[in-house]
Amino acid sequence: MIHKLSNTHFQAILTVVNDAAVAYKGEIPVDRWKEPYMPAQELQEEIEGGVQFYVYTENGCVVAVMGIQPVGDVTLIRHAYTLTSHQRRGIGEKLLNHLLSLAQTDCILVGTWETAPWAIKFYQKHGFTLLSKEETNTLLKKYWDIPERQVGTSVVLEYKGQPK
Ligand SMILES: CC(C)(COP(=O)(O)OP(=O)(O)OC[C@H]1O[C@@H](n2cnc3c(N)ncnc32)[C@H](O)[C@@H]1OP(=O)(O)O)[C@@H](O)C(=O)NCCC(=O)NCCS
Repeated sequence: MIHKLSNTHFQAILTVVNDAAVAYKGEIPVDRWKEPYMPAQELQEEIEGGVQFYVYTENGCVVAVMGIQPVGDVTLIRHAYTLTSHQRRGIGEKLLNHLLSLAQTDCILVGTWETAPWAIKFYQKHGFTLLSKEETNTLLKKYWDIPERQVGTSVVLEYKGQPK
């Protein structure tokens, strides 16, 4: 039920991302919130920029999405979203474990909003460790292409590999 992105999934990915991203509304800085949270052009740019998306389907419908992006000597987990109606059923875990198994580097990083405790909890539950603010700033500037404002309001976690 996990598939690599194909052209037929593009619209469905947008639907899942923009449904799940509602969790950010009122939680992340107001100036970083937008609707839709991810426009089609941004998804296209992310794919062209090297994010490899995987989807989780149920009865042929995409219900979750997650991306992996090799950048130099690290691998980034990008854009993790499960439909609001399907969250907390272990789908994110299945996708994350799949992507972790694909990573070709020792170091696997994920960035998220510092005001998204549920996401931080999700990654910590699956073997990621929250890095210091100093490390976070350095890594975000080195491996991510995001605005300065987002750097100041994000956290980075590193996969240390211990089982749940
Ligand atoms: C983060 C996310 C992708 C996890 O997907 P999922 O399919 O719900 O993941 P799982 O069911 O495998 O894991 C659930 C675990 O994640 C954490 N979690 C997920 N949603 C949570 C919530 N609303 N409140 C608290 N913890 C939450 C918990 O650790 C939870 O475990 P628990 O139910 O035993 O407490 C999903 O919640 C989501 O799309 N959230 C909104 C967007 C987002 O924050 N994305 C992260 C971008 S980096």
